[in-house]
Amino acid sequence: MPGAAFLQQAQSQVELSLQQAIGHCQVSPRLAEAMAYSCLGGGKRIRAALVYGGAHACQISSQQVDKVAAAVEALHAYSLIHDDLPAMDDDALRRGKATSHIAFDEATAILAGDALQSLAFELLASCNNDVVSPEQALQMVRVLGQAAGAQGMVAGQMLDMAAEQKNISLPQLELLHAHKTGALISASVQLGALASPRVDAAQLGALQTYGQAIGLAFQIQDDILDIESDTGTLGKSQGADVTRGKSTYPALLGMSAAKHLAQDLLTQALQSIEVFGDHAQYLAYLAQLIVTRKS
Ligand code: IPE
Ligand code: IPE
Ligand code: MG
Ligand code: MG
Ligand code: MG
Repeated sequence: MPGAAFLQQAQSQVELSLQQAIGHCQVSPRLAEAMAYSCLGGGKRIRAALVYGGAHACQISSQQVDKVAAAVEALHAYSLIHDDLPAMDDDALRRGKATSHIAFDEATAILAGDALQSLAFELLASCNNDVVSPEQALQMVRVLGQAAGAQGMVAGQMLDMAAEQKNISLPQLELLHAHKTGALISASVQLGALASPRVDAAQLGALQTYGQAIGLAFQIQDDILDIESDTGTLGKSQGADVTRGKSTYPALLGMSAAKHLAQDLLTQALQSIEVFGDHAQYLAYLAQLIVTRKS
């Protein structure tokens, strides 16, 4: 299957898996509505595709990791809802529509984010099946917990907020980006691979090198698009980083050096997965997509 068809299949599979999971959350219909609003029917689903790509590299079928893919997208959707809140980036547009706190209200947005985060761990904890053992599921819970919290994404968000309107050094910016975005992207690849009972430390190491490189490249491209793209294409407000005085790669290095760095990271990522041969074809496709995407 070509890369584009693989991505489309990943998108439709994870959509179904998320629909099923949110369908069970009906105690408060308004909460379920807000969760569905932010989590369903939008987004590029790159993290889900990385789960499926990591699984494919380790010769695990995509159906075995549907819940894992849903878990990373639920966690990502939570991070976007909270990222857009007035107390954080204060954005009004996300995935081409009003952000959660505007479409609903702030309390509902915070709670929908909270609920999506919990849902992510519930999904992982119940992802064992005829291929994935309970021990592997537990390992996945640990990996996502580390990537999402104070050793990963949340720490990165904290560094991001603290670096607004500041001049920070390149190593500080790399630390910030590696945590706020790189951690979850890298964990997505690892989680797909961890579904395999046979994956070894060398393979996980290669995937970690790949994940860290594309994770950083992903945020560099996000920063570039904030300057070079437009609101219609992005589905979120272009120029928001400049308005808020965010520390970004183009701001620190200049546009041309930022683009070169993204290309270097792509090369590193592609080299690191050569050990998987043809089985890494989808990971290679996704790495290219991450640095060439326009939205
Ligand atoms: C946006 O992520 C937030 C960042 C980490 C830069 P995506 O660009 O993957 O957002 P969606 O899921 O496609 O909307
Ligand atoms: C957010 O980074 C990363 C998250 C953990 C959500 P950004 O603030 O750059 O993401 P966008 O540009 O709003 O999507
Ligand atoms: Mg932000
Ligand atoms: Mg933001
Ligand atoms: Mg951004």
